[in-house]
Amino acid sequence: MEAPAQVQADLDRLMPLLDTGLTAPFRQGDAVRLGEAMRYSLEAGGKRVRPVLCLLACEAVGGTPAEALPGALALEYVHTYSLIHDDLPAMDDDDLRRGRPTNHKVFGEGHAILAGDALLTEAFGVLAGAALDPVKRAEALALLAEGAGWRGMAGGQALDLEGEKLATYDLDHLRLIHRLKTGALLRASVEIGAVLGGAAPEARSALRAYGEAIGLAFQIQDDILDATATEAELGKRAGKDAGRGKITYPSLLGLDGARQALEEATETALCHLASLPNRNSLAAWARYLALRAK
Ligand code: IPE
Ligand code: IPE
Ligand code: MG
Ligand code: MG
Ligand code: MG
Repeated sequence: MEAPAQVQADLDRLMPLLDTGLTAPFRQGDAVRLGEAMRYSLEAGGKRVRPVLCLLACEAVGGTPAEALPGALALEYVHTYSLIHDDLPAMDDDDLRRGRPTNHKVFGEGHAILAGDALLTEAFGVLAGAALDPVKRAEALALLAEGAGWRGMAGGQALDLEGEKLATYDLDHLRLIHRLKTGALLRASVEIGAVLGGAAPEARSALRAYGEAIGLAFQIQDDILDATATEAELGKRAGKDAGRGKITYPSLLGLDGARQALEEATETALCHLASLPNRNSLAAWARYLALRAK
């Protein structure tokens, strides 16, 4: 699906800001090959959903994109690290990512692990070193830790791996895995944007709830695309979840059931925006992410 006008306009406005900031670092330093490995995965593209949502949430509460930029960069560093590690032989063992051979295929497993470690560390570094109000900075750092760590993405990835060996599975457990492995960082993306934009408490909690709901929706659509799209469309291997015996929304509920769950999570996200005067972009993004083709 083509991006709708509002989404395209946001991308045209915000991508240049992000791309310059994301790819400029890691060019100078002693560990030249490690820097190359980090840039390889960052420069491969990706939809930049997390940093864009961070900037949009900041704008939705009256801030400017520049105020949220360090948070946005940090989120894409964490996300890119999570993909590099997710593709390792010890995890999903994938060969293709963002239309390129995976990081470990090019740089070797050791460097891929270290590129991930370094991106995670840089994420906290870029936020900690930014010229931000100290209270906002501390809150953003705490939210990043919550979204990325054992209460968030890393915890969810562990449950996902353990799940490959479980004999039975119910929807509550699958929802928990999705909320943690993918939802937590998306929720953090939106909430960090809100905090850096100076959100009032009610707006912040509405945006946190919106982020939580689109985070679940995002992984449901990722599962649906894995089962229905092609490798050429996705820029990553398709049909790999069934191949690895992963339990997913389509495997548990069928495609129709998965699509219904996706719609429900998207509606929940939209409901949480109702009290926000400046909600058009975030609403358009919630609808778009549910219908995206990659
Ligand atoms: C893929 O994320 C992994 C999940 C958390 C579902 P994206 O679909 O955002 O991947 P990129 O950043 O566009 O490559
Ligand atoms: C990954 O979920 C979530 C992450 C935290 C990286 P998947 O394993 O389904 O992501 P893809 O399909 O490989 O992008
Ligand atoms: Mg995985
Ligand atoms: Mg994977
Ligand atoms: Mg997937």
